Amino acid sequence: MSPIPSQDLSAIREFVEVNCGIKLDESKSYLVESRLGPILLEMKFVSYLSMIDAAIKDRTGKLKHKIIDSITTNETYFFRDQKPFDLLSHKLIPDILERQLDKAHPILRIWSAAASTGQEVYSIAMVLKEMLGTFYSHNIQIIGTDISQHALEIASRGVYGKIELSRGLTGARLNRHFSQKDNLWKINDDLRAVVRFQHLNLLTGTATIPTQDIILCRNVAFYFSKENKQHLFTKLSEKIEKGGYLIIGSTESLVGMDVPFEKKAFHNNIYYQRI
Ligand SMILES: C[S@@+](CC[C@H](N)C(=O)[O-])C[C@H]1O[C@@H](n2cnc3c(N)ncnc32)[C@H](O)[C@@H]1O
Repeated sequence: MSPIPSQDLSAIREFVEVNCGIKLDESKSYLVESRLGPILLEMKFVSYLSMIDAAIKDRTGKLKHKIIDSITTNETYFFRDQKPFDLLSHKLIPDILERQLDKAHPILRIWSAAASTGQEVYSIAMVLKEMLGTFYSHNIQIIGTDISQHALEIASRGVYGKIELSRGLTGARLNRHFSQKDNLWKINDDLRAVVRFQHLNLLTGTATIPTQDIILCRNVAFYFSKENKQHLFTKLSEKIEKGGYLIIGSTESLVGMDVPFEKKAFHNNIYYQRI
């Protein structure tokens, strides 16, 4: 395949940034080619420019979502980075529950704002199940959202193969929270019952999300421009109860952002509290 002409690359970069906030590096035309080339061939477009043009004109939004599904990086795994899950179980969740000691049925609302194929959401559900033993005495609501419809289909199914399960899961957790059928493992129904998945663009769709106690928004903002990051964290701050918590990715920071969060640490694990 010949390299993407610069005019086509500019059109793709603009389309992707407008539609999902992701700022594609100019030097990464090989990445664009490897991810969007198959659509070009499958749908027999004569150029990337004509593909983007068709996506803009397509009122069904199907081509747009096909492009977004292909261009987004959905890399994730169970208990990714581990520290956020230690924070949840040793500090953030106990704090939220302690504020509700007077309630017979404490509420806990957690949003995984870039849920990808679901591993982060199910890791949170496992942490909670292991902490609480049972979900009957609590009102647990875990939401996972993502812009990639394909990733969300996998997340909603809650069925994973050997490769996904070999990344981040202990044998004890596999035995406790999954049931096996042939070469696939399905998340148990008790965990599935406290989670739901929703298609959402973080730059335009946060209004549909109810107020949360804890938001995890990890490994997505680093793809955004400074302006989009500011917009994203402003929108997230509007969705967190005062005193609630935000966890971002281990390589991300809120430095330079004008947002109502106080940076805090618990055993060297960074988190942000809504002020
Ligand atoms: C690298 S994954 C991170 C998954 C998980 N949070 C983790 O840390 O393992 C980034 C996800 O962000 C999603 N994403 C990118 N832009 C988005 C947007 N504007 N709105 C919602 N999700 C977006 C991608 O589809 C992808 O699934």
